[in-house]
Amino acid sequence: MDFPIFHLDFAGNRLLIAGIAVLHVAINHALAVGAMPLVTMMELHDLRHGRPDWDRLAYRTLAVCFIITTSVGALTGVGIWFATSLVNPAAIGSLIRVFFGAWFAEWIVFCLEVVAITTYFLTWKRMGHRHKRAHIALGIGLSLLSWLTMAVIVAILSFMMEPGSWTSQRSFISGVFNPLYLPQLAFRTPVAMLAAGLFALGLAFFLTRSERGLRAEAVRLLSLWVVAWTPLALAGGWWYRARVPAWMLANMPVALATQAYQGWYRDIAVALAAMGAVVLAVAAWGAFVPRRLPRAALLVPFCLVLVMLGSFERVREFIRKPFVIGSYLYANGIRADAVPLLQEEGVLAHAAYVSSRTITPANREEAGRELFLICCTRCHTTSGVNSVLAKLTNLYGAGPWDRDVVKGYLRTMHTVRPYMPPFPGTEEEAGAVADYLLALRRMPAELDGAQTAGVRVPPDGAPAPGSR
Ligand code: HEC
Repeated sequence: MDFPIFHLDFAGNRLLIAGIAVLHVAINHALAVGAMPLVTMMELHDLRHGRPDWDRLAYRTLAVCFIITTSVGALTGVGIWFATSLVNPAAIGSLIRVFFGAWFAEWIVFCLEVVAITTYFLTWKRMGHRHKRAHIALGIGLSLLSWLTMAVIVAILSFMMEPGSWTSQRSFISGVFNPLYLPQLAFRTPVAMLAAGLFALGLAFFLTRSERGLRAEAVRLLSLWVVAWTPLALAGGWWYRARVPAWMLANMPVALATQAYQGWYRDIAVALAAMGAVVLAVAAWGAFVPRRLPRAALLVPFCLVLVMLGSFERVREFIRKPFVIGSYLYANGIRADAVPLLQEEGVLAHAAYVSSRTITPANREEAGRELFLICCTRCHTTSGVNSVLAKLTNLYGAGPWDRDVVKGYLRTMHTVRPYMPPFPGTEEEAGAVADYLLALRRMPAELDGAQTAGVRVPPDGAPAPGSR
């Protein structure tokens, strides 16, 4: 409302963020947070047992992690903030108010991490065996820094789900130590270790024939690493699940399966659990009879863990709906406590970037379009992913829709579907959105160009009244 609207009408804004974020989380957890201690441990294995072949394996694993984390990892990390700032500037603005110092701390820790990984990688050969201990110490420091970058971000992620006592205390500490912070950290830490073990297991696939002996040994140790972290991941997951509020758990079926397939929710959950069982079975096999494990099986667990991690992030993002910051800010960037005022005085009256603040017979559809952009497009497109036209067609069929029925739906949509926020505007504004949706359906091609151009300047250059 206080910002221009950025809207991708084909893929939807949610998909833009999800695509970047899931890739980033996979790289961060598997190739940084989990991989740095794993590589350090492999290096230690060489020091203890005098195994230069292990040293080479550790170095090769690090090389892959170094290249990917400092390129795709760093770009997607920055990309998340660009994408989220474009899609939901109000949410990022709120988060910065609470976590102001944390943002700066994160930047410092991240820079230190990049310096540390670069040094660790580039000095590997130069420091050689004479300074192995010092080099391993560097690896331990790097591992701590990698974990710290995640630990800061997890505070923000869990705050977005459930701010807890921050809603009354409004302090930095109450924001950081929100109810889900420690459980989520306790879950993500072993999951990162697990994911790194599975990634390294996947890399063992590429060892050559002459390195068959090393492969079997690596498979055994890496599998043991995975098996060892599993109970902690399960315990962390259980703690996290136990702390998620009941109203969020009620969103699970749609979160996992979408509304159309929510009946399949249990089947999908069982399929994900089965993937976990396959991963464990491969790890157990690798730990006890590594030489018998078919080489192709080494690639399977990491692929499965990517699917599981992606599903986890999707569910985590979804279950807090209709909020982007639990109970405080709706996904459309409107504060929950501002809604009664807006429903009385109107969204347009308080929006900074709309072409008109009043609805007239001449501008009804245009006003409806601007209201739709503000109220709905953080989650919906007109005809792309999660298309509002398709949703309405499911509800009211392919024939002509009744304007009052659509308008009536808007006024009650949050009670029918609790993962949607209440319509924040006046009755007249709901009517304008209904007009727009009906028009959109009648002549989609004609409106096509207009609907994606979301940015508008304040009318007559007047200063925006703001939302509070
Ligand atoms: C917080 C995100 C969010 C916002 C904001 C939102 N919706 Fe939804 N809406 C959803 C989701 C998620 C679904 C279900 C999608 C699915 O799984 O198929 C949905 C479903 C719908 C449906 C179909 C519901 C049914 O009962 O079948 C309609 C119609 C709809 N939305 C219209 C709107 C309109 C109009 C707006 C703006 C005034 C809006 N939504 C705002 C997330 C949102």
